[in-house]
Amino acid sequence: MNRIVTRMTRFAAWVIACGLISISAYAGNTYEGYALFNQSCFLCHGTDGKGTGPLAKKLDVSPADLTDGDGGVSDISDRQLFGMIQGTVKHGSGTSAMPQWGLAMPGNQIESIVSFIRFLQKSKHPLLGDPRVGKRVYEDNCAACHGRSGKGDGPLAAVLDLKAMDHTNGAELNKHPNSHLIEIVTFGTPGKSLMPGWKEMLTQDEIIGVISYLRLLPNY
Ligand code: HEC
Ligand code: HEC
Repeated sequence: MNRIVTRMTRFAAWVIACGLISISAYAGNTYEGYALFNQSCFLCHGTDGKGTGPLAKKLDVSPADLTDGDGGVSDISDRQLFGMIQGTVKHGSGTSAMPQWGLAMPGNQIESIVSFIRFLQKSKHPLLGDPRVGKRVYEDNCAACHGRSGKGDGPLAAVLDLKAMDHTNGAELNKHPNSHLIEIVTFGTPGKSLMPGWKEMLTQDEIIGVISYLRLLPNY
């Protein structure tokens, strides 16, 4: 019995090591990844990850389009993507034009960047506002019901017996265009629902900022 268990464990370790299973349990923080990407990657890859940052034209090798499907970056496992950023897995033409970020960043930061690249690949809606403004607005005004992590489990949720939306479900959030979310946050949800409107309390920049922050809560 023990031997079977050992073999199964070894097999599982081998499958994972070969990258046959993409471990989306990479516990990256997409918001942190957004901030790091906009410090270290956008110059070449662009803020949208498509490879057209301000430095791109000055390089001999074009920076990769990180949102590319069909054999591109969208199709490789988290582990491989992590390694390419770290500098331990070969990429594209294997030139040195892409820096080895493992020299400058700890693993947890690279994990967060992986999560943000997944967001760039999967989100159907652009970030209209500044998520850094949004984070402050969210923590001050929304976390009481929606919870700090966005799971809908804030302290008010239990008292008022309300079902605040779980904002960490990326597939669900992707169904809602920005215009719909702006409407909800500005005016609240109609009827007896306890989702308040924020028209009197928040500026337009704060509203689009907080919606952009919501889009970075899920792990895609
Ligand atoms: C100085 C410009 C520059 C910066 C800054 C930069 N990259 Fe790159 N990156 C490149 C170039 C050029 C390539 C294409 C290399 C090749 O074709 O071999 C590349 C390739 C990649 C690839 C491989 C994609 C593939 O399909 O092979 C990944 C992943 C990547 N970059 C992620 C990042 C991340 C994440 C950051 C920020 C932490 C970053 N890059 C910052 C220039 C840059
Ligand atoms: C008093 C509690 C409470 C507060 C505070 C609150 N919400 Fe909500 N929110 C809710 C409830 C309850 C729902 C579910 C509404 C429904 O199902 O009709 C909800 C739903 C939502 C939805 C989804 C609506 C939909 O289409 O399903 C969004 C987006 C949202 N809230 C954003 C926010 C933002 C952003 C803030 C802070 C500026 C915030 N909420 C603050 C209770 C709250």
